[in-house]
Amino acid sequence: MDLYRLPHSTYVFLTLALSCILISRLYFHQTPTVRVASLQKTRDLSQNDTKNFSDSIHANEFPNPSTGCALPEEKRFDCARDRTVSQAECEKRGCCYLPLTQTEYNGPPWCFYPASYPGYRMGPLSPTPKGQSATLSRATPSYLPRDISTLQLDVMNEEAGRLHLILKDPSSARYEVPYVKVPSSKRTNTEGFLYDVDFQSDPFGFVVRRRSNGQVLLNTSVAPLLFADQYLQFSTSLASKYISGFGEHYTHLTLDLNWTSVTLWNRDMAPHSDVNLYGSHPFCLVQEGNGQAHGIFLLNSNAMEVALQPMPALTWVTIGGILDIYIFLGPDPQSVVRQYHEVIGYPMMPPYWSLGFHLCRWGYNSTNVTRAVVQKMQEASFPLDVQWNDLDYADKKRVFTFDPQRFGDLPEMVQELHEQGLKYVLILDPGISSTSPPGSYKPFDDGQQREVFIKNLTGQTLIGKVWPGPTAFPDFTNSDAVSWWEECIRDFHANVSFDGLWIDMNEPASFVHGSVHGCPYTDLENPPYTPDVIGGQLNSGTLCMSSQQALSSHYNLHNLYGLTEAFATYSALLKVRGSRPFVLSRSSFPGLGRFSGHWTGDVRSDWEQLRYSIPAVLLFGLYGIPLVGADVCGFEGDTNEELCVRWTQLGAFYPFMRNHNDRNNIPQEPYVFGQRAQLAMNNALVIRYTLLPFLYTLFHHAHTSASTVARPLFFEFPSDPNCVTIDRQFLWGSSLLISPVLEPGVVDLAAYLPPELWYSVYDGKPYNSKGQYLLLPAPLDIINVHVRAGNIIPLQMAALTTTASRRNPMVLIVALSSQGWAKGDLFWDDGDSLDTFEHGDYSYVIFTAGQSQLVGEPIKLNGALDGLTVAEIRVFGVATPPTGVWANGERVYNFSYETDNKVLTVISLSLPISETFTVQWS
Ligand code: GLC
Ligand code: GLC
Repeated sequence: MDLYRLPHSTYVFLTLALSCILISRLYFHQTPTVRVASLQKTRDLSQNDTKNFSDSIHANEFPNPSTGCALPEEKRFDCARDRTVSQAECEKRGCCYLPLTQTEYNGPPWCFYPASYPGYRMGPLSPTPKGQSATLSRATPSYLPRDISTLQLDVMNEEAGRLHLILKDPSSARYEVPYVKVPSSKRTNTEGFLYDVDFQSDPFGFVVRRRSNGQVLLNTSVAPLLFADQYLQFSTSLASKYISGFGEHYTHLTLDLNWTSVTLWNRDMAPHSDVNLYGSHPFCLVQEGNGQAHGIFLLNSNAMEVALQPMPALTWVTIGGILDIYIFLGPDPQSVVRQYHEVIGYPMMPPYWSLGFHLCRWGYNSTNVTRAVVQKMQEASFPLDVQWNDLDYADKKRVFTFDPQRFGDLPEMVQELHEQGLKYVLILDPGISSTSPPGSYKPFDDGQQREVFIKNLTGQTLIGKVWPGPTAFPDFTNSDAVSWWEECIRDFHANVSFDGLWIDMNEPASFVHGSVHGCPYTDLENPPYTPDVIGGQLNSGTLCMSSQQALSSHYNLHNLYGLTEAFATYSALLKVRGSRPFVLSRSSFPGLGRFSGHWTGDVRSDWEQLRYSIPAVLLFGLYGIPLVGADVCGFEGDTNEELCVRWTQLGAFYPFMRNHNDRNNIPQEPYVFGQRAQLAMNNALVIRYTLLPFLYTLFHHAHTSASTVARPLFFEFPSDPNCVTIDRQFLWGSSLLISPVLEPGVVDLAAYLPPELWYSVYDGKPYNSKGQYLLLPAPLDIINVHVRAGNIIPLQMAALTTTASRRNPMVLIVALSSQGWAKGDLFWDDGDSLDTFEHGDYSYVIFTAGQSQLVGEPIKLNGALDGLTVAEIRVFGVATPPTGVWANGERVYNFSYETDNKVLTVISLSLPISETFTVQWS
């Protein structure tokens, strides 16, 4: 696995270069001399590409300078995002000042750019080895300190559906995000491309248009480009007001554009609205309103802010690095996601067992308590694959140790779990306790000696504070730290043979701001502009911005901490265990899905958090981290029986399902509830386990073709206006529609069924929907799930672990279309080896149904399928009652036909899945 795509030395160079710039430049505030905008509408296209771009600019695409300040409110772009200004200061900036009597906190800006505002002037585009390049320069500096007056623009038409634009300082190397970048593919001939791009030269701006229908997708000439050392900003119009992305936040699937803003800055913060949470994903998907979609990705890891306004438009502000912009042209939502993942990396293939049920809580404070939990789960017949321990196991909360009294026989306990076919995961925080007596805690002693920890500005190990007290933080951008981390994991694993690692607190979180000694006063700690982060300071709840890592300052690398730790942990697990790693990370950044899953952090045990867990899970699918879920039944505060039942039902359809609870709450393991609740939870778990072959196959497709696992409805029905914002329901792949109950006391659910024939997964009851809301019965023991006509879903009889269920007979649900056909597939391997697909160590079976017959055909056969048989088929939508059924040509008698729902069920089959088989009915 190749996290470091560029040689280390490049980054060392960049780091040095950047620190020199920062040290040598003095803070000065420039007063701009505002001159009248000279706006020439020109297009700069290189000669050889001209023919491929459309040759007309619609008159209204670039601003009309004569409009001046007479702009409608929604078209006003804030000229004072960076600080509060007086009227005089605003006008000194050459901006318009028009106070509004707004009562709300957020609204149209009072100080805004006139229709034309001086900015960079673009020189001619000339060909380069990668595409085209132009110089941008401005005659007068902007109002920002340390303005950069000359920029280099690179334009790369990389793929038919991918445009790549870079704006940087040609005269000195600035920090650029490592790890995330595909080798650029150069296309000189843009024939067949989905887009055209036009440039306005003065002031600089660009317009991206969809070639097929001429629709303007982005237009950055709506407001000036700003590029100062610690303040970079561009604005663009948006093609619609349906924007999804810019995580991690507590939001709907589509964002509110009514003068809102979102901050991206990784932070240990329990999910609630309007604050920056654990991860940063500078990506959004825009629905264009006609079934088409595009994506925008700003590859930048500095603290940033995206302001949204109803025009619709956005303003993107980042306080470091360069502007490295990708535009993905889809044209459908799923293609946008694939094109994005081609840049950030496709998600890893999770081990099969990690799709089972996980049980955790903070407070299982001994091996005996933990054993008892497992035993009670088994006695009550709840499926359970993975038992977890939180920090309770660690000796004085220090990672890589276990408490000699309470967890003295942890190695034996893990052994016992393995003997029962279970797996074991424990928590691993990055903070390494720094106050143990010398010689008594090897991870710190070794780490210090090998200089693997993040250093403060003056070169000493930076000390923060986490659970064990004072701690040092490994610098995972340092290759020595990666080796040291692997050794710590290897040593610990030699004692406790855990199967996966849960990497928490990796924003990184600290209980003191900056360090136990505070932070020095520098431009990194106190930048000219600080985005609206919770706590007000960048170092709030984390490390000093001026602290030093191998690749750069923490100021630049902060948002990458979890990603770099996930990579180090993934590769250590791979080397130590030799099989497919399982890592669960709280902090995230683009590319994390290559190594890790994610849970949505410290959600409260309440109905609102249950409801918002759906958009959270769906958005992480867009971000390339399909293995995701919220803590089932909620983490903070006491749960209650009804909530926990509904949460277990929804959780059964999170791609990652773990019940996890905080220390001082009432217990919430499934077995603590009343009989009816237990039954409902058991049903939900059994449904999940039954569906695992299907879920696993979806993960295979995510891993090999960047499709999504849990999927928003608009991905499958992009032209249905009703689906645009739906985030109370979702799909698994293209074929299972999940409609959970999200409020207390509900027993009838209004669920939207997109225009299609659907069948209840339980009894095959058909609904031919014209695209309407239906009132569905939803008693406490039911979560509504519908199969889309035309699909075949592979199931397997459930068991208490996946170790056992993987040996059970399979069942096929055949959901016939109204024309009587259906198709499906199954990916199968040993569930645990690395890169089985890449090495060809897997089997792949295609199922097709049509003309009263079902055919199963292994098109790739490599082990693992041995002994697996199809024991039962359920065919939904069989119009006429069959009088006979044949399996591989031989008559079978164990079948029944249910006339109301028109379902044919054939049981007692024994068809080896490794051989082609047919089942016919007539
Ligand atoms: C208003 C807006 C604010 C903006 C300021 C300056 O106060 O509410 O968002 O920054 O005007 O334009
Ligand atoms: C953090 C985690 C939570 C965990 C706790 C103790 O709050 O988000 O899941 O239980 O730390 O380790």
